[in-house]
Amino acid sequence: MNQNALKEAVALAALDYIPENGILGIGSGSTVNCFIAALAPKKHLIEATVASSVASYTLLKQHHIPVIEFNQASGIDVYIDGADEINSHFQMIKGGGGCLLREKILATAAQKFVCIVDESKMVKALGNFPLAIEVLPMAQSYVARELVKLGGLPILREGFVTDNHNIILDVHRLPLHEPIALEEKLASIPGLLDSGLFAKRPADSLLLATTTGIQTKERT
Ligand code: A5P
Repeated sequence: MNQNALKEAVALAALDYIPENGILGIGSGSTVNCFIAALAPKKHLIEATVASSVASYTLLKQHHIPVIEFNQASGIDVYIDGADEINSHFQMIKGGGGCLLREKILATAAQKFVCIVDESKMVKALGNFPLAIEVLPMAQSYVARELVKLGGLPILREGFVTDNHNIILDVHRLPLHEPIALEEKLASIPGLLDSGLFAKRPADSLLLATTTGIQTKERT
């Protein structure tokens, strides 16, 4: 089974988690794109979706799935998203697609966060994947210097502008053995809008696509 087939399988399994007559938060990325396609025939079961990116919004619209603005939603019942890495505590590195700021808002607001990944994303320790950080453009140099002080090597994602008109620094080599403390430290740097480290708000459920089937795990 190739990686794309695993993504499609886990996307189908995630349909069991959609909130009946509720608001469904939609993440971003290739696994979520498979989920949006799988959701289309079931769209009548939910009230509406809220999208974490312009790309997901556009795809939802193409499938005629109802989408509302986050400001119009009374809350998010369930949030479904992929990850670049996830550990056994269901803490994640996200943001490979550069949508981390809105993803973190929806994930944090959600009653339940369901992470859908293929087995290549499951790691013992977070940190092989560079940590994406969304930065206000005028603060780029200052934030980069602060990241170096923390032991990181920030690299500007060339030619990339986020949905919020900001830049992304991909940070290599950051010490990630205390993910919650690091996430808080990063969030305290002025001009650093958010990081792709999802440790304070881990996923509640993990759907893991393996070559032998879908494994469903709940955070304990
Ligand atoms: C988007 O910014 C990311 O957080 C994605 O959720 C993450 O990169 C996973 O994407 P794929 O499903 O494409 O691997």
